[in-house]
Amino acid sequence: MRRLVRGRRMAIALAAGLLVTAGAATMLPTSDAQALENGVGRTPAMGWNSWNTFGCNINETLIRQMTDAMVSSGMRDAGYQYVVVDDCWMNPNRDSAGNLQGDPSRFPSGMKALGDYIHARGLKFGIYQAPLDRTCAQYFGSYPGATGSQGHETQDARQFAAWGVDYLKYDWCSPSGSIDDQVRTFARMRDALAAAGRPILYSINSNSIHSKTGPQRNWGDVSNMWRTTEDITNTWNSGQTNGYPMGIQNIVDVTVPLVGYARPGSFNDMDMMEVGRGGMTDTEMRSHFALWAILASPLIAGNDLRNMNAATQTILKNQNLIAISQDTLGLQASQVSFDGTRRVLAKRLANGDVAVALFNQGAGATTISTSATAIGLSGSSFTLLDAWTNATSSTSGNISASVPGHGTVVFRVSGGPGTPTATPTAGPTATPTAGPTATPTAGPTATPTTGPTTAPGSCQVTYAITGQWPDGFQGDVTIRNTGTAPVNGWSLRWSFANGQQLNQAWSASYTQSGSQVTATNVSWNGSISPGGATSFGFIANWAGSNAKPTAFTLNGAACTTA
Ligand code: GLA
Repeated sequence: MRRLVRGRRMAIALAAGLLVTAGAATMLPTSDAQALENGVGRTPAMGWNSWNTFGCNINETLIRQMTDAMVSSGMRDAGYQYVVVDDCWMNPNRDSAGNLQGDPSRFPSGMKALGDYIHARGLKFGIYQAPLDRTCAQYFGSYPGATGSQGHETQDARQFAAWGVDYLKYDWCSPSGSIDDQVRTFARMRDALAAAGRPILYSINSNSIHSKTGPQRNWGDVSNMWRTTEDITNTWNSGQTNGYPMGIQNIVDVTVPLVGYARPGSFNDMDMMEVGRGGMTDTEMRSHFALWAILASPLIAGNDLRNMNAATQTILKNQNLIAISQDTLGLQASQVSFDGTRRVLAKRLANGDVAVALFNQGAGATTISTSATAIGLSGSSFTLLDAWTNATSSTSGNISASVPGHGTVVFRVSGGPGTPTATPTAGPTATPTAGPTATPTAGPTATPTTGPTTAPGSCQVTYAITGQWPDGFQGDVTIRNTGTAPVNGWSLRWSFANGQQLNQAWSASYTQSGSQVTATNVSWNGSISPGGATSFGFIANWAGSNAKPTAFTLNGAACTTA
């Protein structure tokens, strides 16, 4: 079921045409927005969603079959996690207490039972809802009711947590509201989910039945993933800039310039995939998957997993591309060059390798070339691993391939002098975008470079415990620069209480020796201007107490705590 009528279209200034400059960097306004730090979605989400193939025709038998197919097909073992039930699962009426309910004829066992079924198979449960009065199917009259979350945010978030939901897709579905209204409204559910106490990956779509606000800002302060475009369809090029429906090429055009927004915990969402649904050639399907992977889009399959042919399985389970997608640096590939046909994209990886895509947007075969220098590597000896064929080759710097029309060759490039330089090039305003060759700039973990630049007493630390469970807790730390000098590269130390052991951090790297923890900035959050702040989060195990640490030092100088 598809909508026939769509809301207003908006010209998107970031259309591909503006990028047609050989060798030009992809530039975009950078943002100081704090990323949502809820501990989930540290790499692009992987899973399956019901909408692309089934639309409103869903029920619990189908979702269980798809869950089973995730396991039996090897998709789960390849990294796919979330089983997402899209629109049309709900009872058109809330219960007498105002609670959402599953539709009794489609989901007679209830949504909690469905979540249990999914969890029992080692997978995670996703669900769909809308923030205003109606879901998109309800708006278009193809599903009854008006069960949106407006005015029920806290109640619905608690309900999702109680059902064991791990992923919420929250879909605007209205022509009304300014972008600021959208930010406020999406943030309301973000906060309700946080208050509900269960880590739930938060996926939003601001574009549905609305002007296309998805590419207009960095939504990483609000959500873990946000749709950049109108709905995808299984075609290569629909001729749309950002209108219904979008082909693969059209979505790439919109999303490439948004490179600076991707980071662990927040990613540009290029929509559920069309791989395995027909409508495109095998070459185009491969390009589709390769581009979603290197551009760090969530990889949410949209095909029928019960009957995938070999070609589809080869694409969706490509381990080289999945490793590039799931790289822990969480970067989106930057554009290295584009001449209107030949597009080169490069994504720096945590071990110092760089993934490079040679994408041929033209209809006929052509040779596409770049170099190790252009993708940010130095040295004279490199190995190229072809992500599709697994073939390896050596080069002293030239990276080149003959690429079929609409094809994408991906190499994982390793070598050079070894570890890239570890200097964070700049602070929060310099995400992997800038620089004439667009990227692969800094080293993999971006340790604090310079020594202490803060005077004693010119930092304030806010330490909050944002969740806890029987054997662990989640903490969020904000460092505020209360001094007059910028902090360029930071290292925050503290002493943990009662055997607490940090075992995961985001927006910081860490070491722990005994009770002493040192958290260090990552590449994008190394600079804190006077009066500014940066945040990071972690999960720690605890033995009996989540007592707060007290002695914080920033680059060796004691901080006050708030
Ligand atoms: C919108 C979304 C789709 C899907 C439908 C459901 O169009 O963009 O992904 O969720 O609503 O009605």
